[in-house]
Amino acid sequence: MNILVTGGAGFIGSNFLNLLVPRHPEHRFVNVDKLTYAANLSNLEGTAGRPNYALERVDIVDGAAVDDLFARTKPNMVVHFAAESHVDRSIHAPGTFIETNITGTFRLLEAFRALPKDQAVLFHHVSTDEVYGSLGPTGAFTEETPYDPSSPYSASKASSDHLVRAYHRTYGLPVKITNCSNNYGPYQFPEKLIPLMILNAIEGKRLPVYGKGENVRDWLYVDDHCEAIWTVIQKGAAGETYNIGGRSEKTNLEVVHAICELVASETGKPIRELLDLIHYVPDRPGHDLRYAIDPTKVMRECGFSPKESFETGLRKTVRFYLEHDRWVRDVRSGDYLAWIDKNYSRR
Ligand code: NAD
Ligand code: TYD
Repeated sequence: MNILVTGGAGFIGSNFLNLLVPRHPEHRFVNVDKLTYAANLSNLEGTAGRPNYALERVDIVDGAAVDDLFARTKPNMVVHFAAESHVDRSIHAPGTFIETNITGTFRLLEAFRALPKDQAVLFHHVSTDEVYGSLGPTGAFTEETPYDPSSPYSASKASSDHLVRAYHRTYGLPVKITNCSNNYGPYQFPEKLIPLMILNAIEGKRLPVYGKGENVRDWLYVDDHCEAIWTVIQKGAAGETYNIGGRSEKTNLEVVHAICELVASETGKPIRELLDLIHYVPDRPGHDLRYAIDPTKVMRECGFSPKESFETGLRKTVRFYLEHDRWVRDVRSGDYLAWIDKNYSRR
């Protein structure tokens, strides 16, 4: 099977490839990535040299480039991770979110629709629980919860979900959609809550908490998300949506406290010194109060259950950032982007 993995140099896509490429030598995985600021090829060190892996630097918004890619690589399956993914960036500059998340998904769907029927096995669309909007203090998102996105990011992901579903209903394309809760783990770009707080705590910088830190997110370790996607690809039904989560709700303040405790225990820094770094900043506009996933369907129909608890997953994550200071330095300094421009500008 030829499998196109879009966004395979980003956080979740690279963890997905690192798990699946060595395990499935019978499949050929092609990483389709524009290599934006959020991508990093050094996330893929163990995967990059393998014979069943290739990289294609392609912007999914460029329809001609996508058509050319499909003609050359003859995919059977698309696993679509590529997106602009950070809510705060979508508030400051929504344009690229509309282009990549909506138009980019449309270009891929069009190319997939043009494939011979017996070649096109599956278009798997990776999405977020943020499409459902905000919960109050109780309840959880099911696959029947109406869409009600709050940010340009979640609105663009909601649009892409609707397009994928429409291509199933209108053209009969074999599609599946997964909507997952917040991920954390190795190789996450240090602009999202968990890696930002870990690095700031390690470096003795302020820990900026929005509002009162009472917003709730439902955290899932990235490998559990990747295994869930692969399980849905194998066992899920075409045209269906599956919510993915591990029933691990935390307030942001609970997360920041847990990070301070782990950084203290791993580095020997006094916990009080770390907690004193917590700094309340003005709230994010349109900030959703609470997300929580009801994962009953994916557990019952596909047999998914997460392996990592929040405590074990967070310790692994803190250790990753402590042990990869070179990765962190390159990502932060822009050296990595300069390398990409130098080495990939003519591709
Ligand atoms: P990320 O920002 O770390 O990575 C995105 C990747 O997409 C990068 O490698 C980037 O270079 C690539 N990309 C961006 N624009 C592109 C374009 N125009 N053409 C080709 N490639 C492009 O994102 P992530 O956190 O790994 O998220 C991956 C997917 O999972 C997204 O679709 C996101 O909506 C979804 N998701 C993320 C989370 C989370 O907590 N991070 C939770 C649920 C769902
Ligand atoms: P984030 O990691 O940006 O993910 P999302 O907005 O997609 O859920 O943020 C997670 C939560 O942490 C969210 O409630 C906003 C909050 N947050 C902070 O309090 N401070 C920060 O610096 C960041 C980046 C997020």
